[in-house]
Amino acid sequence: MTTTTQQARSLETVGLRKSFGGVHAVQDATVTFQPGRINAVIGPNGSGKTTFFNCVTGMIKPDSGTVTYRGETITRKAPHRIARAGIGRSFQLCRVFPRMTVLENLLVAVRRTGVVELLAGARNPEEIDRARALLVRVGIDHLEDTEARNLSYGQQKLLELAGVLMADPDTIMLDEPAGGVNPALIGRIATLVQELNAEGKTFIVVEHNMELVMSLSHHVIVFDRGRPIAEGSPDVVQTDPRVLEAYLGV
Ligand SMILES: Nc1ncnc2c1ncn2[C@@H]1O[C@H](COP(=O)(O)OP(=O)(O)OP(=O)(O)O)[C@@H](O)[C@H]1O
Ligand SMILES: [Mg+2]
Repeated sequence: MTTTTQQARSLETVGLRKSFGGVHAVQDATVTFQPGRINAVIGPNGSGKTTFFNCVTGMIKPDSGTVTYRGETITRKAPHRIARAGIGRSFQLCRVFPRMTVLENLLVAVRRTGVVELLAGARNPEEIDRARALLVRVGIDHLEDTEARNLSYGQQKLLELAGVLMADPDTIMLDEPAGGVNPALIGRIATLVQELNAEGKTFIVVEHNMELVMSLSHHVIVFDRGRPIAEGSPDVVQTDPRVLEAYLGV
C-alpha cells in the first residue's frame, strides 16, 4: 500500500506534455515512481520515453504539467539544479569525453572540477579517491589512464554510470543501459543496479532488453504514443493485452 511518506519521497509527474511541432512526444503523462524501487519504463520506439526523461531532468522544458521530487516542484528547473536535488541520469547515446582519460571523465562529471581547472592540473584529492573507488566498483579501474575513446561501448557505459554516481544521487535514471552492450557487461550493469538499489538508490530504467527488464525491475510502466498506458509488476505487465497491442500493433 502507498503511504503518505512514500508519496512525499517519490518522483511524480502530473499531466506532463511535450510536442515537437505536430509530434506529441509526451502526452498527459501522470506517473509516480516509488522510492527504493527499480522501476522500468518500456514502450515501442518513439513512444516518448527519452523525451519523458528529458522533461524530468530539465534537458528540455515540458509544454505543460508538473514534476515533483520529494515534495519539491522541479518542473522546468535547470539540469544542474535537478541533479543537485538528487536525480542523476545517463543518456541513450552514451556521453563521455572521448579524449579525456577515464579518471578525468569522472573528475569532470562531478563538475566541481571544471574542464579548464582540470587541464591546468587542479585536482581535488578527495574526488580522486572517490573516482578511483567508483572505478573499482564498476570494474574499469585498470583503465584509469586510458582515453575514453579507446574503451568498448559497454566500458563507456560503465564509465558513464560511474560519472552519474560521482554526485551520489538518490534516484538514478538510465536510458537504455544495455543498448549496444555485450552480454557479459550487461550482466555487470544488472548486478550493479541491484547492489546500488539494495543500498537505497531508486532506479528508473528505460530499456528494450525485456529479459533484463523482467528480471531486474520491481515495477514496470509502459508508454505508448507518449502516454503511460499500463503499469504493474513485471508478471502483470507481460500479460496485459494493452501492452501486447502497443508492441504488436494488433
Ligand atoms: N528534438 C526532437 N525534435 C523533433 N521530434 C522529436 C525530438 N525528440 C523526439 N522527437 C520525436 O518524439 C517522439 C518520441 O521520441 P523519443 O525519443 O522520446 O522516443 P523513445 O520512446 O525514447 O524511443 P526509442 O525507444 O527509439 O529511444 C518520436 O516521434 C520522435 O521522433
Ligand atoms: Mg529513447
